[in-house]
Amino acid sequence: MTADPTATIRFRLDGETVAVQDLPATTTVLEWLREHAGRCGTKEGCAEGDCGACTVVLGSRDGEGVRYEAVNSCIRFLPTIDGKELVTVESLQAPDGSLHPVQQAMVDHHGSQCGFCTPGFVMSMLALYLNDPAPTRETVLQSLAGNLCRCTGYRPIIEAARSMDAYPTPTHWSRAEAAATERVADLATLARDEGLRLPDLHAPRTLDELAEAYAAAPDSLLLAGATDIGLWVTKELRELPPMIYLGEVAELQRIDNGPDGLRIGAAVPLSRAWPAIVAQHPALAELAQRFASPPVCNSGTLIGNIANGSPIGDSMPALIACGAELTLRHGAQRRRLALEALYLGYQQKDLAPGEFIEAVHLPPPTEDQHLACYKLAKRFDQDISGLCAAIRLTEADGCVTEARIAFGGMAATPARARNTEAALEGRALSATSIDAAAAALAQDFTPLSDMRASSDYRLRAAGNLLRRYHLERTQAADCLRVTEVEA
Ligand code: FAD
Ligand code: FES
Ligand code: FES
Repeated sequence: MTADPTATIRFRLDGETVAVQDLPATTTVLEWLREHAGRCGTKEGCAEGDCGACTVVLGSRDGEGVRYEAVNSCIRFLPTIDGKELVTVESLQAPDGSLHPVQQAMVDHHGSQCGFCTPGFVMSMLALYLNDPAPTRETVLQSLAGNLCRCTGYRPIIEAARSMDAYPTPTHWSRAEAAATERVADLATLARDEGLRLPDLHAPRTLDELAEAYAAAPDSLLLAGATDIGLWVTKELRELPPMIYLGEVAELQRIDNGPDGLRIGAAVPLSRAWPAIVAQHPALAELAQRFASPPVCNSGTLIGNIANGSPIGDSMPALIACGAELTLRHGAQRRRLALEALYLGYQQKDLAPGEFIEAVHLPPPTEDQHLACYKLAKRFDQDISGLCAAIRLTEADGCVTEARIAFGGMAATPARARNTEAALEGRALSATSIDAAAAALAQDFTPLSDMRASSDYRLRAAGNLLRRYHLERTQAADCLRVTEVEA
């Protein structure tokens, strides 16, 4: 093994530092565990982030401490856990062989039948155990949204998750032990000055180094959380070009909140981006909750969603309705672009070779704006939209002064509904104006039919979502009037 630290992936596992070289950068954590480390407790179900059977926990340095998060090891590339602590289901057994409270709770509540999903559930529950000493039913359901079980009907698992804190504090993987200075110190030994430079992956440490590397090698593939890219390997068996990994660039991991709103960097995972967005735009809370699962959101980034540019990407309609702009970076040059202007056509973006998205800017809401966002999908949790609508009207003196209405699932890209907006602007919001807007949708979109929804359904549903917005606004107004009368 060469002594070159930049060619060696290093992470902590069960108290040891593991060093890995000479594997393809697209080797997933799951492949390494099962095929190289012989740790087969972590299972493979779907290999696409959907079932949770492969869930592991990653510990990352976070200020003075360590942040532990559940991730899907099947779509997480091994180089991206460099410098972190990997925790698998085998790690939980204490040196004396005793079970961890999470495991004991699953045994006592009969949370396992065939057992195939169990390691994944145990690891999602461990992440909850380490982060939340008093989980509610709601936080349990949210934490397990990325884990599927075909046998138990979930009730025993939910009961186990809700009872695990009642067990005696373990000596092994307790909250205190997980945050112990020794663990932080061990992780600190993995700190590196120079980024990883594998034959097929470069992990720059600074924004300038990233900009220079990408401008010099514009055919490289930018890698963020790999929750889209990962499936290109595991499901489409694609050979990828050399990758430039954004996840080690400290400047890209920042969320800034200033007078002109939020600035979210390109390496900010969705699990940190959504809370910041929802704090400013509470109307997006349900969309955030319904976006993928916690393990996917712990790896995937907001800007990866934007850059991937799926016609049914969920964040973009909402961000477009809120007036989001992007900072694009090419070498030393930067430019600003309205998010809706990024998309030129299906998988065609206004990005020059070697140009990347550095950050997304979200202006703060104003009193006269009214935002609503609706995701239509077959399942509440962990499902791709058939249609996603975001509607923001600005009103003054009873008149709509600005309409920003954006949809996912209605065209080859997320897009604004310009004719629909025009039907509302300059008029009072009413059933009549909303009907005119619903009729104008057919001028804006000719949606396709696919397995998620028919064209006719999409147009009809989009019109009804406009009506729903109007009803919610008027009912809210009626409620307000009633409470005013009562008061
Ligand atoms: P990656 O996979 O790393 O990259 C995606 C693309 O963006 C690549 O082409 C990459 O080169 C490019 N890219 C990344 N960063 C930049 C940058 N800064 N500049 C330029 N290009 C860049 N999506 C939804 O919208 N809604 C959902 O509910 C949803 N659920 C999902 C559930 C599962 C189980 C999975 C596996 C995925 C789901 N996704 C969903 C899709 C995916 O998680 C998101 O699109 C995610 O935001 C992608 O981010 P990433 O960091 O993983 O991107
Ligand atoms: Fe299904 Fe990873 S194997 S989520
Ligand atoms: Fe069989 Fe959950 S116990 S899939």
